[in-house]
Amino acid sequence: MQILVIGSGGREHAIIHTLLKDNALKPNSVRVFATGANAGIVELIGAANCFDIEPTNPSAILALANQLDIELVIIGPEAPLVAGVADLLRANNYSVFGPNQAAAQIEASKAFAKELMHELKIPTAKAFTCNDLDQVQAATAQFGAPYVIKDDGLAAGKGVVVTTELQTALDHAKACIAAGSKVVVEEFLAGEEVSVLCVTDGKTVYPLVAAQDYKRIFDGDQGANTGGMGAYAPVDWFDAAMQQFVISKIAKPVVELLNQRGAAFIGVLYCGLINTTAGLKVIEFNARFGDPETQVVLSLLQSSLTELLYAAASGNLDQQPAPSFKPGGAVAVVLAAAGYPQTVHTGDEIAIEISPNPDLVVFHAGTKLENGAVRTAGGRVLAVTAVGASIAAARALAYQGVAQLRFAGSQHRSDIAKDKGSA
Ligand code: AMP
Ligand code: GLY
Repeated sequence: MQILVIGSGGREHAIIHTLLKDNALKPNSVRVFATGANAGIVELIGAANCFDIEPTNPSAILALANQLDIELVIIGPEAPLVAGVADLLRANNYSVFGPNQAAAQIEASKAFAKELMHELKIPTAKAFTCNDLDQVQAATAQFGAPYVIKDDGLAAGKGVVVTTELQTALDHAKACIAAGSKVVVEEFLAGEEVSVLCVTDGKTVYPLVAAQDYKRIFDGDQGANTGGMGAYAPVDWFDAAMQQFVISKIAKPVVELLNQRGAAFIGVLYCGLINTTAGLKVIEFNARFGDPETQVVLSLLQSSLTELLYAAASGNLDQQPAPSFKPGGAVAVVLAAAGYPQTVHTGDEIAIEISPNPDLVVFHAGTKLENGAVRTAGGRVLAVTAVGASIAAARALAYQGVAQLRFAGSQHRSDIAKDKGSA
């Protein structure tokens, strides 16, 4: 099968790596092309199969798919979904994994997601959507500290500020409003978080193994929110009853309601939840695979990713068995560039001295190949990902990998998956 993967971050490197594993079962059954070219993806599929095409340009993507005789397009990041790349490809009879623009609003607008949850009575934080600072002030006064202030639009995981300082909360709200966004002010929810990625063809919904992401930049969940500094899977407290609840009371109703509204959701419905004392509540939906959750979830996938995504893209997921996962655990530790999540320094050479080990994979995000050298090219640079018989074993191997990687100003958390999983 000829597959085009849109995007070139850590998530896409993990997707391509996993698709190509299917060649071990059926040699040459999968050939992958990509838009963009981080050094890891180039190493996997070759520079000739990486195209320097803007992932948010629907007509350029369509032209590329036509030129390459593509049978399946997988859209990794949110921006191409919101730009309508899936819409144009579907209108031209392509099988696409990733929702159309209208369904991707579930991620692109927090206010839209709140409205869906309200209609379906899905448990979530109480919230007000505010257009000006007076409304923000009224909402923060009602909820009290800690304050949760969200940019309504897409912000790569960095649009949310959770703070006990009212001034910090108001400053963030002011900045969002000044940039032309609405602001969602939410009640603070306390509890452990879990990400449940659900693969759907708009009818059948299959959950993948649950993962936990580390959103804050520093150890002990301190500092600013990021796109994600690490992840592990599975999450031991997330039991079968909770999974059933997420499928039957959250994911399926959302997919059905979007269908009724003529906005079929085909792709990954990412449910981000908090386990509060009053039960699981949704904090966010995404319209795509999570990053770095994908790196751990796909490392544990045992069944074929190609078959799963193709079945979903072609509307035949009910004829496909539910995905199966290896026992044990997976851990990913992100190495970020100096300055992340604010302005970062790029262009630094990365020394990678890892001896080959099938249980340890370095997924590239913001990297590029320049005259044979791998250099930093973005905020999150690498996700060092290991699998093991337990989360503790995977964690030990992941951190061994981290110790063998070096670039100027590199930063990572040292507490990813610490004390997680049963021994
Ligand atoms: P979001 O982009 O909506 O997922 O928010 C990013 C992160 O901010 C979440 O993963 C949580 O860690 C935190 N967060 C968001 N909403 C809330 C909330 N209502 N209560 C507590 N923490 C939150
Ligand atoms: N890791 C969070 C996300 O992908 O949105």
